[in-house]
Amino acid sequence: MTKRVLYLIACAAGPTEYVDTGVREAQAAGWDVCLILTPSAARWWDGRRGELEELTGHLVRSQYKLPSQGDALPKADAMLVAPLSCTSLNKWGAGIADTLAIGLVSEGANMGVPVLAMPYFNRAQGAQPAVKRSIADLRAQGVVYLDGPAGYEPHPPKQGQAQAFPWGRALAAAAAVVPRAATAPGTPGVALGGGRSGTSDLRSP
Ligand SMILES: Cc1cc2nc3c(=O)[nH]c(=O)nc-3n(C[C@H](O)[C@H](O)[C@H](O)COP(=O)(O)O)c2cc1C
Repeated sequence: MTKRVLYLIACAAGPTEYVDTGVREAQAAGWDVCLILTPSAARWWDGRRGELEELTGHLVRSQYKLPSQGDALPKADAMLVAPLSCTSLNKWGAGIADTLAIGLVSEGANMGVPVLAMPYFNRAQGAQPAVKRSIADLRAQGVVYLDGPAGYEPHPPKQGQAQAFPWGRALAAAAAVVPRAATAPGTPGVALGGGRSGTSDLRSP
């Protein structure tokens, strides 16, 4: 059976230092993982992006491509933003898709792709009034926002444990949304960048 494709989208938040752990856990759960980093997160892997490309078997993208460039990744069966930074949460909620990472999920959520997000930020960041509004706006678009016991609750400032980020919770939620049997051979994925014009995936690895 063809493997389901998961776009794992990581922002510049603590657990992204260990995003290879998330990739491995997702692969162990049966996903073909395509990793997308925000431009800020990509800086954290400067000089080591090749390790992630070797691990996933795909280009690791962080920039919109140029109109003249072809599609680099297979179609997504699901998209998981983890860790979701406070900044990307608020930009996404406000509809500001100035990174490929946010562009993919902004469109994906409104094109029928299952989109999940698990945040990682501290309580001081989470106390900003924009945060509640952004979460509500994402949920209104059908995004599965993973907070509470089944997700991640903001930690007290300076007390984050990035290495202990519960990737497994996010992956369990993704598996619940896209059961293994859902992608039978021949079942089309959703074509973000799969040859359709005008989608946000069309502007540069
Ligand atoms: C070392 C370091 C760690 C950071 N950790 C976090 C974090 O855990 N959560 C968060 O929301 N922001 C964190 N930030 C701030 C974000 O990196 C910053 O808001 C950035 O603009 C996010 O960009 P992005 O969402 O496009 O990746 C951190 C910044 C630095 C320099």
